[in-house]
Amino acid sequence: MSGKEESLSPDDELRDAAFAAMENAYAPYSRFRVGAALRTSTGEIVAGCNVENAAYGEALCAERVAVSAAVARGLREFDEIAIASESDDPAPPCGSCRQTMSEFASDLKVTSYSKNGKKVTWRLSDLLPEAFALNYLRGKE
Ligand code: THU
Repeated sequence: MSGKEESLSPDDELRDAAFAAMENAYAPYSRFRVGAALRTSTGEIVAGCNVENAAYGEALCAERVAVSAAVARGLREFDEIAIASESDDPAPPCGSCRQTMSEFASDLKVTSYSKNGKKVTWRLSDLLPEAFALNYLRGKE
């Protein structure tokens, strides 16, 4: 042993941030806790968790909470997101979260982890091939 601390790979660091955020999930209704961690283009990590509500429809997904937290800090460029959940298989992000992520990073690298260590990586452009985007609102002027 060299006595040196083992350093985590960038992927493992993002995964751990997603699982740490999952611990803060407020999910008393579904009992399905989710955490998400974004890596910004400046190398920062911004995390979110799902936040449910007694009015069920007001639940916020972890991915959208992470994007909102980053934007509130002035960070809008993202390289990747890690999602952690209590699912047996890595859960893909819901449709609303795909649309929200695509606003800022249309080809984001998305990696989802299950509680038992499985992982799957997708490109957001494959998960949401026909995103609604600014150019449809304004035309191609
Ligand atoms: N959830 C997320 O946080 N992210 C997703 O992409 C899918 C679903 C949350 C919302 C709700 O609190 C719980 O998981 C069950 O749907």
